[in-house]
Amino acid sequence: MSGRKFCVGGNWKMNGDQKSIAEICKVLSDAQLDPNTDVVIGCPAIYLMFARNLLPCSIGVAGQNAYKVAKGAFTGEISPAMLKDVGADWVILGHSERRAIFKESDELIAEKAEHALAEGLKVIACIGETLEEREAGKTNEVVARQMCAYAKKIRDWTNVVVAYEPVWAIGTGKTATPDQAQEVHAFLRQWLTENISKEVSNTLRIQYGGSVTAANAKELAKKPDIDGFLVGGASLKPEFVDIVNARK
Ligand code: G3P
Repeated sequence: MSGRKFCVGGNWKMNGDQKSIAEICKVLSDAQLDPNTDVVIGCPAIYLMFARNLLPCSIGVAGQNAYKVAKGAFTGEISPAMLKDVGADWVILGHSERRAIFKESDELIAEKAEHALAEGLKVIACIGETLEEREAGKTNEVVARQMCAYAKKIRDWTNVVVAYEPVWAIGTGKTATPDQAQEVHAFLRQWLTENISKEVSNTLRIQYGGSVTAANAKELAKKPDIDGFLVGGASLKPEFVDIVNARK
């Protein structure tokens, strides 16, 4: 085994209301979750405090985005300090939906990560290629570019988890096969060794995300360089418990 603690995130995206969030939080609170797995819930910002108060402290709560500075005239934005103020200790950054829909650049995402870490948040740093990029044989080139941008701003990787999420697997039901995922995770591990350090390569957790379900989680979890998951749709369902317990 790698010695890296398994880490499973649930990214609720723009879903939920007080009733449904209370239901999900009760399922998670009542469940027997593997104590050897870190669990983090990425909740819509407006419900963060609500979810924080319903979830056991053993489960971390994450914002799904945060701005790159502490305060100022940035209407609609939320700062890492505000996320911490309502009980979040994580933030998800660089999700492919932030990149594709909201046109966030590698550089902006890296600046957000730098500031979030400086403010004491842990960061789930997302990367991943599109189907077009994969079919063009550019997967490694794309994820290396995205990692390079993070590496220009991140000095201490202790509080970072990387989430490799092939865009073509997100919300499509077309999960990467365990071998496909492992191949990219192994490339990322090698990239870390060559560009950051052997220690960071050995300790940094790399989650897989993209149509993870209770049915495929166990096989994916057996791969040596897959250290957890970032789960979308299935994190809104009771099966998320089975995904958290994939290594049990
Ligand atoms: O951040 C996780 C998300 O992008 C994966 O979504 O629905 O394919 O599990 P989903």
